[in-house]
Amino acid sequence: MTTTTGGPSARPLHLDPLAFVLAVEGAALMRAFAGEHDAAFVRARLANIRSLLADPGPLGAPAEVRALTAAEGYDAWSVDYDEPGNGLLAPDFERVTAMIEDQPGGLAIDIACGTGRYAEWLAGRGYQVIGVDGSPGMLSVARRKLPTVDLRQGDLTDLPVPDRCADLAVCALALTHLEDLTDAYAEFARVLKPGGRLVVSDTHSLYLTAARYPLIKQLVDGEFGYLPGWEHSLADHLNAALRAGFAVQRVSEFKLDGIIDPGLAPEDLRDAPVPDPWPLMTWVSAAANAAWAGAPASMYLQLQRISDGG
Ligand SMILES: C[S@@+](CC[C@H](N)C(=O)[O-])C[C@H]1O[C@@H](n2cnc3c(N)ncnc32)[C@H](O)[C@@H]1O
Repeated sequence: MTTTTGGPSARPLHLDPLAFVLAVEGAALMRAFAGEHDAAFVRARLANIRSLLADPGPLGAPAEVRALTAAEGYDAWSVDYDEPGNGLLAPDFERVTAMIEDQPGGLAIDIACGTGRYAEWLAGRGYQVIGVDGSPGMLSVARRKLPTVDLRQGDLTDLPVPDRCADLAVCALALTHLEDLTDAYAEFARVLKPGGRLVVSDTHSLYLTAARYPLIKQLVDGEFGYLPGWEHSLADHLNAALRAGFAVQRVSEFKLDGIIDPGLAPEDLRDAPVPDPWPLMTWVSAAANAAWAGAPASMYLQLQRISDGG
């Protein structure tokens, strides 16, 4: 199966803001029905649904949004990727670095290095680092921050590095952008020395098993699009890793204890050109926190390359 980001599921999306907020309220009601919330919570959800249906105008209008390539989406995101606000980055950093700390050093490849979060940390610990990313925009931010690190443009399924060169490979928060994991894990096995360590993190969809919550991005010409992603279960990752010749050493997940600040006032979205799930959640924050409570947001794998797979 292809691993590009333009596959059959990367079709234009019809984003209806009213449908989104009703779905979040519905998911919260489902959890209340399973016993997690009381009658007052259910009445509040039903009242909010009635009021949203009576006056959906402030939510804004539905829109059709095209799929961006990963490079387009991340070039757009590169301008503020390092700004505070992405709640996944700190728990990711804590878990990924914990899976590396006992390593002796050597050559490390930061695969899909983005703006260089892990390349910087690894270089600071004395590793020789090669960072690879497909987005020129993300790479140019990384190059400004890390002028002495070897940063290369390339696809993570066709890394511009020789066979069996690396002691360590890290691939954080990128594999969701591939429809299938097979080629990526085979490539990670190719570049690692036998006995080398691979640390992978990946995000869950946050929409049950739907492909992906749409990451809405605005391009420099003003056009909006979304960054496609695919849901990979822990089993998808483990099976792809085992097939590529990795042994599993450690596995963990990060679970959400809240997705949106319940104190935020609902935003007026009437003039928003494209519905975006995050500001829309301010209309249904109690339901959003109930709907996603305890949901695994990201997963972490520490693997060792033991053979050539097959
Ligand atoms: C969410 S960012 C993570 C960046 C960095 N690893 C971090 O944890 O901060 C995902 C990165 O994956 C890169 N990416 C996505 N698909 C890719 C592909 N097929 N080949 C190379 N890079 C890719 C994007 O350009 C982006 O920089």
